[in-house]
Amino acid sequence: MSKKVVMANDHGAVELKEEVKTFLKGAGYEVCDLGVAAEEAADYPDQAEKASKEYLKGGYEFGIVMCGTGIGISMAANKMDGIRCALPQNLFAAEMSKVHNDANFISFGGRIVYGDSVVEMVKVFMESEYEGGRHARRVEKIMNLEN
Ligand code: RB5
Repeated sequence: MSKKVVMANDHGAVELKEEVKTFLKGAGYEVCDLGVAAEEAADYPDQAEKASKEYLKGGYEFGIVMCGTGIGISMAANKMDGIRCALPQNLFAAEMSKVHNDANFISFGGRIVYGDSVVEMVKVFMESEYEGGRHARRVEKIMNLEN
């Protein structure tokens, strides 16, 4: 299994990105951080596009995108063919986004006050496995919407 993750964020999630990146590196992941760093304003669709294109080159386990709310950047990532970006609210949703939806991207908001820690949500996402089975038909239907 690949141990590479691609990340991108706008100015609304610089600190949160750093926190998650530190966690991932500690867990042995190679992180491709496409920015942005502090004080650089960025448009979240551009960041979503960069992360998606990098992920689609192959070799990445998953991608993480972040903006102020996680909403705009997840919307943009989901416009990219091949990306299934989840926006989990809590640990349960983070787990289900992998188990049922086979998400390959997750999104978070740097200005959101979460009840569960974002690092814990990333951890449960990484540790969960897609179940397939009855979910495979539904995920396939999602992907068919790209055509
Ligand atoms: C940028 O100010 C903000 O709109 C963005 O980070 C995000 O919250 C959009 O969904």
